[in-house]
Amino acid sequence: MLKGKKIAILGGGTMGRAIAGGLVRSGKVKPAQIVATTRTRASAERFAAEFRIATGLDNAKAAKGADILLLCVKPKDVAKTLAELRKKGALKGKPLLISIAAGTSTKYLEGEAGSNVPVLRAMPNTPCLINRGMTVVAKGSKGTDAHVDVAREIFTPLGRFMELEEKHMDTVTGLSASGPAFMYVILEALADGGVMRGLPRGVATELVAQMTLGAASMVLETGRHPAALKDDVTTPAGCTIAGILALEDGRIRSVLARGVEITARVAGELGK
Ligand SMILES: NC(=O)c1ccc[n+]([C@@H]2O[C@H](COP(=O)([O-])OP(=O)(O)OC[C@H]3O[C@@H](n4cnc5c(N)ncnc54)[C@H](OP(=O)(O)O)[C@@H]3O)[C@@H](O)[C@H]2O)c1
Repeated sequence: MLKGKKIAILGGGTMGRAIAGGLVRSGKVKPAQIVATTRTRASAERFAAEFRIATGLDNAKAAKGADILLLCVKPKDVAKTLAELRKKGALKGKPLLISIAAGTSTKYLEGEAGSNVPVLRAMPNTPCLINRGMTVVAKGSKGTDAHVDVAREIFTPLGRFMELEEKHMDTVTGLSASGPAFMYVILEALADGGVMRGLPRGVATELVAQMTLGAASMVLETGRHPAALKDDVTTPAGCTIAGILALEDGRIRSVLARGVEITARVAGELGK
């Protein structure tokens, strides 16, 4: 489905690079099919050198003739980027517009892109760069199942893919898009515990990262409830339950859950 399709990545920052890198690494798309834009020449040159992809500063030039536009600029830059494309006639061919901007609704995107441009809203995360990402997509009013299939083709090589109703997108942002940052904090804190007990930092970090990968894989691959998997580790009167009680004393569950809730709330404000 992506064979021969031209993909323009508008906004080659952290996420634009993660998507381009993941796509090229997967081999599903050839570098020659992708063009990317940035605001500054230095970023464009860095992007081009990293992935051997054509880059530039002219969004309209990149978008003209593209089949798929991946809008990867910050939410505050969405309106002016789409206005530039509209003014220069770069949306006349009605390319599929996939925006990854947090908190930016398909209704808003449709309004800014003008009539008849099919719009999808996507929420990927940074692990897309190493093909271990999680991407959720929601359809706009002109988005069809065929458009979602195109998004699936783009994002499945970058990790897991799911379609949800748009009402969930801010929550998805707070969970799987911001989530890697939460996990890095947790990972670092757990490693601190090992360092406190005398492990070198590098060793502690490797133990924690591999443990996290294994625990997450157990949830995904066994389909068992995390509570049941936790019970497998907690021997009665043992050391693990002692550690869990210490975490519960610190209200770890409500702290993490509230972190997701407030992130989702703030995400919903970003596109306004
Ligand atoms: N970071 C995440 O984990 C994450 C996850 C999911 C979704 N998102 C969403 O992804 C989007 C991008 O986030 P990010 O973290 O990748 O931001 P970022 O690293 O700041 O990247 C933004 C990029 O947009 C470029 N840019 C700015 N104005 C532009 C314009 N008018 N035309 C073309 N390019 C322009 C910037 O160029 P310069 O480098 O030259 O300044 C930069 O490369 C946001 O909307 C965010 O909500 C982010």
